[in-house]
Amino acid sequence: MNVNLVTFHQPTEHEAEAFRVLRTNLRFTNVDSPKKVILLSSAKQGAGKSTTISNLAITMAKYSLKTLLIDGDLRRPTIHELFDLRKNNGLTNYLVGNQEFSEFLKSVPDYPTLDILTSGIEPPEPSELLFSQKLKELITQAREDYDIILIDTPPVLGMSDTSIWATLADGIVLVIASNQSKIEEVKQAKEQLERTNVKILGTVLTKVKDNSYVDYYTKDR
Ligand SMILES: Nc1ncnc2c1ncn2[C@@H]1O[C@H](COP(=O)(O)OP(=O)(O)OP(=O)(O)O)[C@@H](O)[C@H]1O
Ligand SMILES: [Mg+2]
Repeated sequence: MNVNLVTFHQPTEHEAEAFRVLRTNLRFTNVDSPKKVILLSSAKQGAGKSTTISNLAITMAKYSLKTLLIDGDLRRPTIHELFDLRKNNGLTNYLVGNQEFSEFLKSVPDYPTLDILTSGIEPPEPSELLFSQKLKELITQAREDYDIILIDTPPVLGMSDTSIWATLADGIVLVIASNQSKIEEVKQAKEQLERTNVKILGTVLTKVKDNSYVDYYTKDR
């Protein structure tokens, strides 16, 4: 596995705790309407979405939650790299084929309750592909099979992919990089997402100056 997966590679107590808090906030608040399908996105590229969601997936799996991690970023997929898996035979292969999505799941050593769906072959028109009925069926089935479904997505601004994913999700967490995300862009992303009616669950602040991995998570009220 990639060194950026801090929860796997000897996390410091601060790092591990940040992910536990995030897990608890996502999983155990809103007990009346638990959030099962959760997206991570950011306004612009490179904020730390893929790294954060991968660490979160491991943190969920460590507590034996049946977890599905989907690489929904069909443009710059990296989940396969972080977990040292093959990119192909993933989500897009399922979307264009006739097999069940379960046939494309990949597992990770040491985490038997974590399944991963990598992005698959690169499609010419990612957003077109995401409008598929098969994607809706996948999420419906996954809701039955898993405790939590985490979906990594491309940045919100400049493309419609994340808004399409948002229509299938129960909530979204926005990743904000403290040294690079601009407040105006974050606001714009939030407004774009609100038009899809997805609930914005909160924010994760990455790349904070004191080198702590993920600083905090605030629930958006
Ligand atoms: N919490 C963090 N603290 C410091 N560096 C981080 C953190 N999270 C990610 N990074 C670094 O930032 C870079 C981008 O991370 P990552 O690929 O997770 O971002 P992303 O938002 O998924 O990017 P993209 O928009 O390209 O998909 C990587 O080099 C990663 O190691
Ligand atoms: Mg990414």
